[in-house]
Amino acid sequence: MPNSPLAGRDLISAADLSASDIARLFARAAELKAEYRVERRHAHPPLERRTLAMLFQKPSLRTRVTFEAGMTQLGGHAVYLEEKIVLGGRETVSDVARNLERFVDAIMARTGPHEVVAELAARASIPVINGLTIREHPCQALADMFTLQEQFGELRGRTLAFVGDGNNVYHSLALMGATLGMHVRLAHPIGYGPSGRIVERARQLAAASSGSIDFTQDPREAVAGADAVYTDAWTSMGQEAEAEERRDAFARFQLNDALLAGSPDAVVMHCLPAHRGEEITSEVMDGPRSVIFEQSENRLHAQKALLVELLVG
Ligand code: CP
Ligand code: NVA
Repeated sequence: MPNSPLAGRDLISAADLSASDIARLFARAAELKAEYRVERRHAHPPLERRTLAMLFQKPSLRTRVTFEAGMTQLGGHAVYLEEKIVLGGRETVSDVARNLERFVDAIMARTGPHEVVAELAARASIPVINGLTIREHPCQALADMFTLQEQFGELRGRTLAFVGDGNNVYHSLALMGATLGMHVRLAHPIGYGPSGRIVERARQLAAASSGSIDFTQDPREAVAGADAVYTDAWTSMGQEAEAEERRDAFARFQLNDALLAGSPDAVVMHCLPAHRGEEITSEVMDGPRSVIFEQSENRLHAQKALLVELLVG
């Protein structure tokens, strides 16, 4: 019998995970990371003969490679399915789910609309993992919070300042940060704030954990005294037609040395891919306070922990 409360579940929203679920995943990720870093192998790969189907409606470097390499390292296998085979109108989302549940042990999907990944989860009897939608990126938030725990230990009471777009990455960080009792601030230009529904949910979670969710239009106010300063692309995948107007709107929101002078102890974060010279300068990205490539590596460890917990418990 699986003994994990996560066994058999889906991960669609960062709000699906309680503080104790997250603590359990972090403990498992730390173990897997330590073992893999030393040995470059796991003595007892826990996912032998298990298969993950990976569906992508959008491009990916980190999500694809960390899930695929993660399955290999755990003794299992991942199948990459291109968009025109699935979710491209060839058959319904429901029929895709009802086939895949008979072939594989879990599905990871990167879709445009959030509803597609939610429908896969509703229809498939196997775990479904959100690998990014327009609304959320929970695997990114999991790896990012694990990275912050490595830096700071206890996260309750820590301040994360996100500077830029109130987008999918911000949404998942706000929900998970609120669950963990963190203070999450967002500095965004007018017209580029987050979803009201996500903010309402994050504030409910923050009320229960003594965290907080705050907004400003002044990036200096957001970063002042923060423990971590985070940014993401000004133009997310699917918004390319708005790139020019977004460059203008976000010009004051760049992570550069002048802005970061207001938070001398903060680590600097970015989910990648980065647009050097737009939302972040190369000096900051490659500077001593950057934990950006640690975040990227931790996608591997955090998601391996997630796969083990969902698939074997
Ligand atoms: N951060 C992230 O999800 O990267 P990819 O888009 O390359 O997967
Ligand atoms: N907000 C970005 C994240 C990429 C990992 C996007 O959706 O394109």
